[in-house]
Amino acid sequence: MYNFKDKVIYQLYPKSFKDANNDGVGDIRGIIEKIPYLANLGIDMIWLNPMYKSPQKDNGYDISDYKSIDPIFGTMEDFEEMVEVARKYNIDFMLDMVFNHTSIEHEWFQKALSGDKKYQDYYIIRDAKSNGDKPTNWLSKFGGPAWEKFGNTDKYYLHLYDVTQADLNWRNPEVREELIDIVNFWLKKGVKGFRFDVLNVIGKDEVLIDSTGDSAQEKSLYTDKPVVHEYIKLLNNKSFGNDKNIITVGEMSSTNIENGILYTNPSREELSMIFSFHHLKVDYDNGEKWSKVPFDFEELKKLLNDWQEGMSNGDGWNALFWNNHDQPRSNSRFGDVKKYPYESATMLAQTLHLLRGTPYIYQGEEIGMTNPSFDNIDDYVDIETHNAYKELLEKSVDKDTALEYIKEKSRDNSRTPMQWDNTANAGFSKVKPWLKVANNYKEINVQRELDTGKIFNYYKKLIKLRKDYKVISEGTYRGIQLDNKYIYSYIREYEGQKLLVLNNFYGENAKIDLSKENLDFNNYSVLIGNYENSNISSVIELKPYETIAILLK
Ligand code: NOJ
Repeated sequence: MYNFKDKVIYQLYPKSFKDANNDGVGDIRGIIEKIPYLANLGIDMIWLNPMYKSPQKDNGYDISDYKSIDPIFGTMEDFEEMVEVARKYNIDFMLDMVFNHTSIEHEWFQKALSGDKKYQDYYIIRDAKSNGDKPTNWLSKFGGPAWEKFGNTDKYYLHLYDVTQADLNWRNPEVREELIDIVNFWLKKGVKGFRFDVLNVIGKDEVLIDSTGDSAQEKSLYTDKPVVHEYIKLLNNKSFGNDKNIITVGEMSSTNIENGILYTNPSREELSMIFSFHHLKVDYDNGEKWSKVPFDFEELKKLLNDWQEGMSNGDGWNALFWNNHDQPRSNSRFGDVKKYPYESATMLAQTLHLLRGTPYIYQGEEIGMTNPSFDNIDDYVDIETHNAYKELLEKSVDKDTALEYIKEKSRDNSRTPMQWDNTANAGFSKVKPWLKVANNYKEINVQRELDTGKIFNYYKKLIKLRKDYKVISEGTYRGIQLDNKYIYSYIREYEGQKLLVLNNFYGENAKIDLSKENLDFNNYSVLIGNYENSNISSVIELKPYETIAILLK
């Protein structure tokens, strides 16, 4: 298999990256303009969120035509030009394949609605229960029931996400062939990677049953079903698997290490790597996302460590990420953007980039963009955010508290326009953007960062180190002193070379005693760190949010 282990992927959210035609929405020509900026950062591949034709109810994750470009983003010619230009800079594209569901405006669903039996079997359509209730008691991940009336019939269609996103019936071989054909269509356009949306929920049983009402039990009824592995292998063998240079990543909702290994162990012919999300739930209050509690550092360390060790033991491969378009900004979440913006952003970056796996950088992360903390619910656009706000008020949470939760957890936190400079709309667009710009854009923007900042260069260095040091791209992983209250430390090892990585997750000095670790500090060099003059011996005191990587001979 192609060795992708020294690659770094940049996630680009087209709607919010750069608006070249000044209609308030980012577009492909805007991306073309900024490719030299990304080449300067040193990334290898760009994962693009969906830019296919879509009613945009869920920002493009509701696709109405998989083989076209939505006019808000440009044309197919623009797309082809973008692929060609990026190639000149050694950058490839990874596209988002949303195969669990289509928009209800997709031709298949429309034909199904008009009575075409062939297309009715493309979706998961069931009779109501004999007492008239919905086919099961399942809940949509965006709130409310997961079933909606199918046109004027007595039947219901399943939507695990928004009511406008109808789940596809993967048990139908014709559906599988259609989706294989879509991957092959984009491969022919020179696309070199695929990110598969919520891939582990595509395998639903023929007979669907009620859950106990417990959300984990409910998810288990349709998540990581053994048949999912068969579907992925089929997709692999009939499309991307025929070209060993293709990189794939599956978004796996609530998965486990056992399945993570099955999805990514090369002998299985499934995927290159997966996204798992457990480490981004450590600031949920008893599992509840819409809450505001400090993150649980013990739990975070345990999860990172378990996934590193577990996947490594089974020859699996992790996608490494703190941020994406569904998550709040990690520096606002786990760092201190007021007192230690540089230190905490670089500590988080380094913790992740030196782990075993493939790092993803989400646009704006490389300049330290933060959550926008909008004071008005109307400034948020996201469908999930508005559903959650409504549900919180229905549960008698007062408006101020509900808004506090939204400020912490809304998906719009990461979707605000990219901050390019200190001019109006942060240089993203000449007109009012589709989502407000964060009001700190005069202090945090690309221009200023490139002139006087230190975060971008730190990322640049981390990316370069992965290419220069096999201990980073290929080395083994071992977590050490996991009971330290402030510091997450680990050792990577490759052919006798050791890389010790120490990360202080708090805004105060913290000590670690390494005297029992059998490490030789007589012959070391500091590979990278976010403070100068760190004093290295077997007892090390780290400064606030300090991170340091020490190479031991
Ligand atoms: C996961 C995507 O990342 C998210 O943005 C989307 O809303 C859901 N899948 C549904 O497609």
